[in-house]
Amino acid sequence: MAQTKIAVIGGSGIYDIDGLETPQWVTVETPWGAPSDQILTGTLDGIEMAFLPRHGRGHVHSPTEVPYRANIDALKRLRVTDVISVSACGSFREHMAPGDFVVVDQFIDRTFAREKSFFGTGCVAHVNVAHPTCPRLGDACESAARTAGITVHRDGTYLAMEGPQFSTLAESTIYREQWGCDVIGMTNMPEAKLAREAELCYASVAMVTDYDSWHPDHGEVDVTAIIATLTGNAEKARALVKGLPALLGADRAPCPHGCDRALDHAILTAPEK
Ligand code: ADE
Repeated sequence: MAQTKIAVIGGSGIYDIDGLETPQWVTVETPWGAPSDQILTGTLDGIEMAFLPRHGRGHVHSPTEVPYRANIDALKRLRVTDVISVSACGSFREHMAPGDFVVVDQFIDRTFAREKSFFGTGCVAHVNVAHPTCPRLGDACESAARTAGITVHRDGTYLAMEGPQFSTLAESTIYREQWGCDVIGMTNMPEAKLAREAELCYASVAMVTDYDSWHPDHGEVDVTAIIATLTGNAEKARALVKGLPALLGADRAPCPHGCDRALDHAILTAPEK
């Protein structure tokens, strides 16, 4: 049986894993260029872990500039089996308040300036992303969050926007009232689609920092307010991550949802003779 290896892609405010044993920053090269940064490897409760700061240490890559393909490919090369994305988001729902976490299950991808696939030019594939996140991993994230005392909401739709500017009031109102989105952020796409192409299980934990621009009783979204909430969120996220190894276990059975077999029926190009 395969061994579990958990990767955490940390967003703004999260730059390492608490309690990691034998920590080592490693450099991974990929055909898609360099990942956002070196990757921190080690073990937690006897399970292999990898941590990648999505924006790089020092927050040097904007959401558009994050090298999403290199990041996912680097994790695959490290034999990661499960990817947990942790990122900041704005909320479209009154009850999903700043400081709460949302285990996202669906996305609307409005990004337009990013490389979105490993395929094309010689090998064409169309993977199924109807259910872009892994429910088994989502369950573990929800459970770890509850154990850590975090207010967590299960199943939310995440609007991935290009940025770097926040949304206008008109955009925010459309996403919330007409498209039924729950949260908004700038980084989960194409990350989730690429994880599926790489046959990696992927779950997204979105940490609410603000009410975007729709809420009449809250000031307009700005980075100062977001950073204030992020500091508290980062502590909680680290507590959540600590609980994951025990929940996921060392032995990795095939994913019951088929994330690890996503290419079985996706490739169109004939194999070379
Ligand atoms: N990240 C945190 N808050 C956000 C918002 N309101 N819109 C987009 N990305 C965000």
